Amino acid sequence: MRELITKLSETHSLSVEEYEAIISNRNDENARFLRTLAVETRRRIYGNAVYVRGLIEISNICKNDCYYCGIRRSNSECERYRLTREEIMACSDEGYELGFRTFVLQGGEDSYFSDEILGRIVKDIKSHHPDCAITLSMGERSYESYKFLRECGADRYLLRHETANPEHYARLHPSAMSYENRIKCLRELRELGYQVGCGFMVGSPYQTARNLAEDLKFIEDFKPEMCGIGPFIPHKDTPFKDFPAGTAEMTCYLLSVIRLIHPPVLLPATTALGTINPIGREMGIMAGANVVMPNLSPVKVRKKYELYDNKICTGEESAQCRECLSNRMRKIGYEIVVDRGDAKRAL
Ligand code: 5AD
Ligand code: FES
Repeated sequence: MRELITKLSETHSLSVEEYEAIISNRNDENARFLRTLAVETRRRIYGNAVYVRGLIEISNICKNDCYYCGIRRSNSECERYRLTREEIMACSDEGYELGFRTFVLQGGEDSYFSDEILGRIVKDIKSHHPDCAITLSMGERSYESYKFLRECGADRYLLRHETANPEHYARLHPSAMSYENRIKCLRELRELGYQVGCGFMVGSPYQTARNLAEDLKFIEDFKPEMCGIGPFIPHKDTPFKDFPAGTAEMTCYLLSVIRLIHPPVLLPATTALGTINPIGREMGIMAGANVVMPNLSPVKVRKKYELYDNKICTGEESAQCRECLSNRMRKIGYEIVVDRGDAKRAL
């Protein structure tokens, strides 16, 4: 394994079979070796900076019915909400005061957020805070919609590919959704000049080592500016409620591999990672991640944006999350920076 890992670190490329071997042979020794190389690679590009993105969960209303997701359409237990433009502006104003220079507007596929309405929100935030980047994470939309929102000032778009294997994709989603359309969206976003983020869940139902290897190959080929990965965590009101959660160990191992595949990638230590393990986000940063995404949503809606069980940070105010994460990062030798945190080039 040491040879394969060294090869990855030097060439940033392996075959699907080789990625599969790395995944199947995870042990503490290999994890330590990968982590050392990943942290060294990140240090060369980003030093000890950790970037923050303020996450604003604007709606939990969704027309989709993904089997893993707590806000899926069929979940009648989910108490629905959507934030008003004024509430979203208040969150971003508060976030700005707290030092955030990137806002991520995330929500379900809620038809209320037409191009006109979402575009106006993007424009308003941009005109209030011209030095900020806006990231959208609003699911699959048309090319025209992505184009319009880009023209309104959106800089980045997060759309996890979820799995790079079409058959696996079909086991996680109803037939109304397709792998092909997902990838089409990602390609269109890139063509329109967005900085694009893809990603997947670790330990999702039916996932094999081979599937994960395919995810890694996809990342190697697509070279996303951002990549969001976190453990799958079951939600009690979904068809996948009885499946086991993914592990922090495998998630961190893959974070290290992804850092070596694409050194300048912006890689968050996700909330799901912090949920599965109380020091998961710290473990993620120490494995090669360089982004954290504290929650800026109004406290009254946080519990309702529950994609999986026991999500953390649902009772804390924005300032508390920001403080908490600064302290956590400082304790492990990293500093949160006030900056848009655009991707740097490989050194
Ligand atoms: N566990 C972990 N992550 C989940 N997501 C959705 N449901 C779950 C779950 N049960 C992730 C998906 C989605 C992102 C917003 O959250 O990957 O793209
Ligand atoms: Fe939200 Fe720690 S980051 S409470």
